[in-house]
Amino acid sequence: MCGIVGYVGNGQAAPFLLEGLSKLEYRGYDSAGIAVYDGQIVNVDKSVGRLAALREKIGKDMPQGTLGIGHTRWATHGRPSDRNAHPHADCSGDFVVVHNGIIENYLSLKEELIEKGHHFQSETDTEVVAHLIEDVYDGDFLSSVRKVLQRIEGSYSLVFMSKKHPDELICTKQDNPLVIGLGEGENFIASDIPAIIGRTRQTFIMADGEIATVKKDSIKITDRSGNVLKKKVFTVNWNAEAAEKGGYEHFMLKEIMEQPKAVRDTMRERITKDGSGIVMNELKWDKEYLKSFNKIYIVACGTAYHAGLVGKYYIEKLARILVEVDVASEFRYRDPIIDEKTLMLVVSQSGETSDTLAALKEAKRRGAKTLAVTNVVGSSIAREADAVLYTWAGPEIAVASTKAYTTQLILMFMLALYMAEILETQTPTRIKELIDLLKNIPGQIGETLSDTEPIKTFAKRYGFNEDVFYIGRSLDYDVALEGALKLKEVSYIHAEAYAAGELKHGTLALIVEGVPVIALATQKSVYEKTLSNIKEVKARDAVVIGIAADGDEELIKYVDHVITVPQTDELLIPLLTVVPLQLLAYYGAITRGCDVDKPRNLAKSVTVE
Ligand code: F6R
Repeated sequence: MCGIVGYVGNGQAAPFLLEGLSKLEYRGYDSAGIAVYDGQIVNVDKSVGRLAALREKIGKDMPQGTLGIGHTRWATHGRPSDRNAHPHADCSGDFVVVHNGIIENYLSLKEELIEKGHHFQSETDTEVVAHLIEDVYDGDFLSSVRKVLQRIEGSYSLVFMSKKHPDELICTKQDNPLVIGLGEGENFIASDIPAIIGRTRQTFIMADGEIATVKKDSIKITDRSGNVLKKKVFTVNWNAEAAEKGGYEHFMLKEIMEQPKAVRDTMRERITKDGSGIVMNELKWDKEYLKSFNKIYIVACGTAYHAGLVGKYYIEKLARILVEVDVASEFRYRDPIIDEKTLMLVVSQSGETSDTLAALKEAKRRGAKTLAVTNVVGSSIAREADAVLYTWAGPEIAVASTKAYTTQLILMFMLALYMAEILETQTPTRIKELIDLLKNIPGQIGETLSDTEPIKTFAKRYGFNEDVFYIGRSLDYDVALEGALKLKEVSYIHAEAYAAGELKHGTLALIVEGVPVIALATQKSVYEKTLSNIKEVKARDAVVIGIAADGDEELIKYVDHVITVPQTDELLIPLLTVVPLQLLAYYGAITRGCDVDKPRNLAKSVTVE
């Protein structure tokens, strides 16, 4: 995720660009930049760090001009730096672009353009777009942009600016958001409504494949073939705060809802074109070296630790390598058995959790190779690890982690498949079958999110209970742990997860009439055993909400309510069953009037031991 803005009009561009970017910082904040055309040249100012650093750099010398674009970055290709900050220009400086998304085929385009004599300044994927338009430019701005779009693959929202066309900006999008704000004698472009809401409430919400030529007093929207489209004006009636949350009441809900896109972005570029294999270019080691690991340690905290538990299951099941999982705050105090044949996998959304970072350093000291699964490019953990797999979930603002968890699962599943391929522990047919099912997951998460009403009802009905239990076996137990953590941290309800088979070893004593038990029953090999545990709690008059796969006709006979998720392989089903649990926690917290995005005593990034 990044934030982009554009201005064309009678007024000065820079004040709007900076004001707009400040409203988009939630989309990314590792560097920022603006480009303003002053009538002779395009002045580009950029700075690593938050927008405040750019403001400081610009100081009182605000660039003058009525045409401009700006960007606040959440790094994907190329670490945060002045050089990698947007806007990016072509060789001549005549064309400047800002981009949100990923140009998947940038490497081959870059090679081609370098061969033609183009000079690149940054490590970004975006810069190819600036050089590409320089390369294909035929005197007509719009037709040149169309030619660029024919060459690039991936996800993007893009704004193009050229000093050859000082009265207009061209913008377009594919799989990333873009809006145009309609003003009087001026028009605005932005990734999202918060950036423009201070200037106008009249907007066009751009759709994939649409291209807009935006001038100060006209906006022409065409499709990729050049056909002019008529669009309806959308009047925004949200307040500024709601706009920042995409119209949702809280970041947590927004981030839960973003999961289909987040997991799609995690997979992007990591599946071979024919869908038969996994691409992990980020792993620096060759396949023979990867084969030499005889143990994997997964170390993390909180939700990331829960993701690690699922990761263990994936890697052991698919790649047949022994995996130990540990919480980072325990790991380094137990004199762990680690050597150069150990791969240390640290999982951390923020990449800054101090216990996880310390564990990573300790593993390195003991000779292990280290691999980070993180969401934040250039974070301490990303810098320290020998190799990094980024989740590409975009910034997670709510303290309670949601999209980070699902994207971590996706990445560890893909890593397990990749290792299975190398170690030949699964047949090519099975790998292809799992990849096919993986590709369905974004849509299936979307389906799971499409009807939240039953979950709201349960949350209202059971939100005032002081204790809630979560049970499951195998992968269902791992998801139960995450469900319970979500509920306790945002709603302050005492929630515990148990391996269903463990109940009778003590916890069953707590199950009395009316206690809510959330029972996950999706794993075929232990299904009957889970049913018998459910019967145990029902016999003590618990109220049981079952979580099952579509088509399960059995579970409803033994529980009070059932929530179903779409069918998939049981390895992938945690990606779906966690979603109702996240929603239950969210609506439970709402029922109790809790401050969902900022739960008491908790911080988003735990940088102290
Ligand atoms: C729970 C939650 C925390 C984090 C944990 C690790 O919702 O967000 O448990 O998962 O603090 O944080 P990262 O992943 O940033 O290392």
